[in-house]
Amino acid sequence: MAKVLATGGMGYIGSHTVIELIKKGYEVEILDNLYNSKVEVLDKIEQITGVRPKFHEADMLDSEKVDQIFAEGNFTTVIHFAGLKAVGESVEKPLEYYKTNIDGTLNILKAMKENNVKHIIFSSSATVYGDPHQDTCDESLPTGRELTNPYGKTKYMIEEILKDVAYADKDFKVTILRYFNPVGNHESGLIGEDPNGIPNNLMPIIMKVSKGEIPELSVFGDDYDTRDGSCIRDYIHVVDLANGHILAMEKSQPGVSIYNLGTGNGTTVFEMIDAFEKASGEKLPYKVVGRRAGDLPILTANAEKAEKELGWHAERNVEDAMRDTIKFLRG
Ligand code: NAD
Ligand code: UFG
Repeated sequence: MAKVLATGGMGYIGSHTVIELIKKGYEVEILDNLYNSKVEVLDKIEQITGVRPKFHEADMLDSEKVDQIFAEGNFTTVIHFAGLKAVGESVEKPLEYYKTNIDGTLNILKAMKENNVKHIIFSSSATVYGDPHQDTCDESLPTGRELTNPYGKTKYMIEEILKDVAYADKDFKVTILRYFNPVGNHESGLIGEDPNGIPNNLMPIIMKVSKGEIPELSVFGDDYDTRDGSCIRDYIHVVDLANGHILAMEKSQPGVSIYNLGTGNGTTVFEMIDAFEKASGEKLPYKVVGRRAGDLPILTANAEKAEKELGWHAERNVEDAMRDTIKFLRG
């Protein structure tokens, strides 16, 4: 049975995946420097699963420490979530993003090589499609074109690095998962998205508005050519996303496999506000402001490849995500 190292496993998507891995009987260890997560997540994982995974509080930029964790870990598989992910911040601080995301990944790959670990699942993003000039993306579309920010470029570059690693070693198994817009949280409401600092993404901002920590949501544009003028995204429940990692891990083959993880359905910003209001019974204060630079009007996944090859599809919808989010919000 696989023994997994989850880098970034204390974060939002990582912690949900760790829970699903433990539930399926996998042994998991976590490497995280708590840059964007809290140590209490470990207690919550234990509360939900009955298992407290081994936690290495370590920076993946600390190559010596990473080597030491691998030398002692006997891992078969790495699920690589760790990294910086704020699009806007990456424009302000490009060097930090290239250093953490690229150097960090190189350190992990070097330790994998030295310890004969030949199986990696990587957290990529729909952002690698840049502006695909179409509303729905499948995995055969070209990547790396018209990328507007360093964060997206690091995802593209890491995908290319992984392809080269798999090319050089034909036993190496690389799975690249391109997430669309992860939302929601574990149905217990015990864990959820809880970023340090000011959030960038729609759902954590909605949550902060609901808590009164931000006065109102700014809707970035209502003049797009969509059914209500606001942008459309493919919001995928994080527990479905977590399960996609497990199926991808179990079905990995030597070489490179790439999957979109999304629902295939699009929801507008106004529909998200409406779904939150219905689920919570609250009014969500918002105002329409100008378009945000770099936003695409519509981006949804064609997730047929994951269905066909992994037997994976999303089982939860936006209403489920809102219900779980409210449970997390209300503690
Ligand atoms: P997150 O910030 O909640 O989790 C990332 C974790 O990595 C955090 O716990 C953080 O402390 C850790 N980390 C950061 N730098 C580190 C370092 N140098 N060493 C060790 N640990 C470090 O983010 P998330 O939403 O769970 O995203 C996980 C992955 O999925 C990221 O790679 C992200 O780019 C990717 N992704 C996220 C989204 C999204 O919308 N959430 C979409 C597409 C892709
Ligand atoms: N939005 C608002 N107001 C806000 C925040 C967001 O109206 O305060 C809107 C955006 O304009 C967009 C939608 O809500 O239409 C979703 O925005 P997010 O920032 O949550 O997500 P994005 O689709 O812009 O980006 C996400 C991830 C990126 C990833 C990208 C790939 O954050 O990491 O998906 O599809 F690269």
